[in-house]
Amino acid sequence: MTVTGKARVAGVIGWPVGHSLSPVLHGHWLAEYGVDGAYVPLAVRPEHGAAAMQALPALGFAGANVTVPHKETALSVCERLSDAAKRIGAVNTLVVAEDGTLEGDNTDAFGFLANLEENAPGGFDAAEGPVVVLGAGGAARAVLAALIDAGAPEVRLLNRTASRAETLADEFGRRVFVEPWERRGAVLADTALLVNTTSLGMTGHAPLEIALAALPVASLVTDLVYAPLRTPLLEAAAARGNPTVDGLGMLLHQARPGFERWFGRRPEVTPELRAAVLAARGDG
Ligand code: ATR
Repeated sequence: MTVTGKARVAGVIGWPVGHSLSPVLHGHWLAEYGVDGAYVPLAVRPEHGAAAMQALPALGFAGANVTVPHKETALSVCERLSDAAKRIGAVNTLVVAEDGTLEGDNTDAFGFLANLEENAPGGFDAAEGPVVVLGAGGAARAVLAALIDAGAPEVRLLNRTASRAETLADEFGRRVFVEPWERRGAVLADTALLVNTTSLGMTGHAPLEIALAALPVASLVTDLVYAPLRTPLLEAAAARGNPTVDGLGMLLHQARPGFERWFGRRPEVTPELRAAVLAARGDG
């Protein structure tokens, strides 16, 4: 698709931004739907984050994704924030409104749930039983917001640094219970879903060490880590018969609301999109 003078333009603001898969993802959709638009990487130094975001309306951008280290800065430069962005405390999607003001949204909770709904064998219902969430960083915030809003009856939250988990529990309310990191195997009894939001298991990081013996075999296991796609946690869970969902789908689904707002077309997550993103990641 040729980009004309009328093209709508969006991009991803990050530092570094070279590893971002978003240009490939949105580029795939632009080509698939024949949209006159462009989606570009925007390498913005940490100290230039606010200025770059505030310049988007002046430059005629439709909006942008925001990634590390700018997600919290984005909160403060937006004139309006979605409920999700307020709740999660970070913005990953900027939309330039008709009047040139900046709206901030966070689509990670949407992406997390959409991935499970689409890929869990037999679908996903958060109300089915207690959930165990490992980790208390930015990703865990989105996962907690998603699970609480979707009706999870109880969330057991475990983090190496307990104080970070306590902070999240205070914010997300009485259905969140902090457990010591050392009890990550023991708390699995009677859970319906296990979620890893830590960086453990990622290529180049230590593996997540967890005993799955207490986990009911019907319990769903998902990992936000998608490099490698099949993490040691997912492999161990699948080997004992648990259903598993990998983390790539969350990345793909969280991109949908932004694309729709910027380019006016609701995109689909297809096997071709998945393959394109995996190939760009060097995973064939
Ligand atoms: P993100 O925004 O991707 O969630 P983050 O805020 O850096 O990233 O959070 C990383 C998560 O992985 C945290 O929960 C972190 O635990 P701490 O809060 O104790 O740092 C967890 N993590 C990273 N390395 C870990 C390790 N070696 N053992 C246990 N947890 C680890």
